[in-house]
This record gives sequence, C-alpha cells and structure tokens, in this order.
Amino acid sequence: MQRSSFLSDDCPPMGIYETLYAFRDSFGKFMGSPGTHPWSQGFPLTTQLTGGPELPGSVAVTWEDRFYPKAWGHPLLRDAIAAHYNNFYGSRITPENVMVFAGGRPGIYAVLAFLKKHVEVRIGNVEWPAYLDILTQTGCSWRVVPFTRENGFHPANATYFDRSGLNAKTHLMPVISNPGNPTGHTRAGAELEELIAMAEQPKNGILLDEAYEMFHATKGVSGIRYVKDLDNSNVFLAGACTKGLQSPGIRIGWIIASKKNVETLSNFSSFGMGGVSHPSQLYAAQLLEPKRVAQARDALTRHYGMQRERYGKAFAAMGLKVHTGDGGFYHWLELPAGLNADELNRRLFKHGAAILKGFDCDMARPHQKDPSYRSPYESFFRFSFGPLLPATFESDIAILRQVLDEYRAAVAR
Ligand SMILES: Cc1ncc(COP(=O)(O)O)c(C=O)c1O
Repeated sequence: MQRSSFLSDDCPPMGIYETLYAFRDSFGKFMGSPGTHPWSQGFPLTTQLTGGPELPGSVAVTWEDRFYPKAWGHPLLRDAIAAHYNNFYGSRITPENVMVFAGGRPGIYAVLAFLKKHVEVRIGNVEWPAYLDILTQTGCSWRVVPFTRENGFHPANATYFDRSGLNAKTHLMPVISNPGNPTGHTRAGAELEELIAMAEQPKNGILLDEAYEMFHATKGVSGIRYVKDLDNSNVFLAGACTKGLQSPGIRIGWIIASKKNVETLSNFSSFGMGGVSHPSQLYAAQLLEPKRVAQARDALTRHYGMQRERYGKAFAAMGLKVHTGDGGFYHWLELPAGLNADELNRRLFKHGAAILKGFDCDMARPHQKDPSYRSPYESFFRFSFGPLLPATFESDIAILRQVLDEYRAAVAR
C-alpha cells in the first residue's frame, strides 16, 4: 500500500506548467524546443540584441569564490546594484539596502514568508500566476483588487490601500508587478510617485516587483526614484537579472528595502539559504557594468517597443481586443465573444504554439482546481513576445490568424 506523503498535498506547479505538460502530450515536444512557438513563455532573448551590448561569455573563479558566500550578497554585487539605482534614478541607497537572492522569485517568496500576521496583502485580480502559489504557500492573507474592462485593467493607486471594513491593527501591503505581467500596464511618473507616497504612509508598505524595469519607453521605471525615506519604510522593490539583463539562467535577483528589513532577510539567508553562488554573483556584477546597462536600456526599448507595437496592430486587425499597457513584453488580449482561451490553446498546440490562459493569471481563483469556479478571464490570454526573434513575426501572425479563423468558423457552425 502506498504510504501517505509527509509533504503537502497542496503543492501543484505554477499554473503555466499544466499548459506546458498538456502541450508536450499533444505536440510530442517540450515548448521551447526547435519547431515550437514559445508565445506562452516569460523569458527574454538571451542573445545580443541589435545595437545591444555583448553578453559576458565567462567568469573567473578563484579560491576565494569557493568560500561560503556572505548571507546578504557579494560586496561587489551589492555595490553594483546600489550604483545601478542611484545612477539611473537619482536615489541614495547603500549596499546595506540590498539583499541578494537566487533569482526574483526567492526574494519575493522570502518577503512574503516573513510578513507579520497583521499585514494584509492587496493584489490585482490579474497578476503573475506565481503570486497565487507564493501567497498560498507562505500563508499570507490577501484581498483582490478589481481588474476590469471598465478600469482598463489599471485600477487607481488608492484602490490598493482601501481601508473600508478594516480594523485599526491591519496594515496593508500591495504586491504589484510594474510593468505588469501579464497586462503590460505600468505606473510611471506622477502616478508612480503617488503610489510610493501612499506606500510610505503609516500602516502601509508595498512589494513592487520591478522584474520588467527596463521594458518601458522611458528606458527604466522604478519606484526608488520617489522613495523619500527607505530606511523608515516598508517599501520592498524586487529586481533581477532575469529579464532586462537577459540572463534568467544565472539565477540572480534582489530585494531593495530598509536596512532593518534587509537584516531580517539576511538572517533568513544565514539559516535557510546559505547565500547565493559566487560565480553567478560575479557574472551579475559584470552584467551591471554601467556602460553596458546604458546600451542595454536603449536596445531593449527599441526592440521590445517595436515588437509591442507591431504585434498589437496585427492582433487588433485579426479581431482580438488589445488591453495591453505600455510596458513589459506581453500582450493582454481578449477573444471575440463565444471563444475561450482553453480551446484556443488546444487548437494552437497542434501547430506547436501555446499562450498563457487568462484563467491562470486570475488571483481570485481557488488554488486547487475547482470545476465549479468560473473565472472572468476565460476569454483572455497573454501573448509573450519576450523570446521571439524579429524574423518570426510573419509566421506567428499567420498561425494565430489561421487558428482563430478556424475556431471562429467552428463556433459559428
Ligand atoms: C512578475 C515577475 N516577477 C519576477 C519574475 C522573476 O522571476 P525569476 O527571476 O525567479 O525567474 C518574473 C519572471 O517570470 C515575473 O514575471
């Protein structure tokens, strides 16, 4: 007889994996392998962009790099990250405001795992699928902020801090991806300034996930520009080498926070993480070389701005509603009435393509499958142009148009 597992029965993989396994079963290959169209995937091009900087090819490892790393991060990398923000955004953070993690997710996970019980998370109804798993597994309490056609999938800042019905002891912590995954909506300029001012009010904080910091026409958008007193705040900014620095495989991310909050996170590292790989941190420090980053910001803005615009136009022309904002590398799309993203995906699989269903981005859905739950986003999907080379544009559009036309005709019959 099979013994019952000691580990949680409530630990499914992030929503997208189900799609990836279904894709493999249908198409016979893993998504991302040659001959597939990775529109469901959230990674950037990892090759040099036109006009962009070269990506370092190696990293020197000495006997010192075989020591245990410092719990809070390599001094060289912490310096480089602090300078990265201070030089571009005019902030004055110090290396003691930087905590290094093995990628963006572990940093976000750690912040949420150590939230006090009286802190309530506020999260948009449409957000990055992993947040739902992280909030569930860390035992956070959260409330969902409406994302609708009426508010343009971009609710006002104040909605995240609405205290109606709360008692005095509850503190609020919005978790926002900015630019947003999957919507591309971005809070910048005065709107971002207002968001940060609200987050610095007593009883408030924020976890602003800036994984897509460089994917915006302004070449960079970060709340740090507007933070007045980081060390006396519960502002947490998440960053990573994953997207703009084109290096998801090196697994380097970080949290910018008050010195006190960084100390707590580094205490966690001392018993729960053991620091982060030195070779990876040294590679990240090379990536952050200021001239390289300046060149990368230009090239990313040009390449991804061009892709956002032309895919958006082509999607609108084939009858999809485009609800995308002006940042990131995703389109947030709505199918014509009567069609749903689940069936669209099954049809795309046969052509070696897949999208991310809006359902997976629904933060109000139950964590475990519940067939009785109806998501308001079943006719929505995310199209990623992150990993797509310019040369695949025509064929991507031709495949999607053909599948959509066939699906429409089948429904009309
Ligand atoms: C919103 C968001 N935050 C953070 C990350 C960073 O993830 P990681 O660095 O762990 O790959 C991603 C990557 O998909 C993301 O989409």
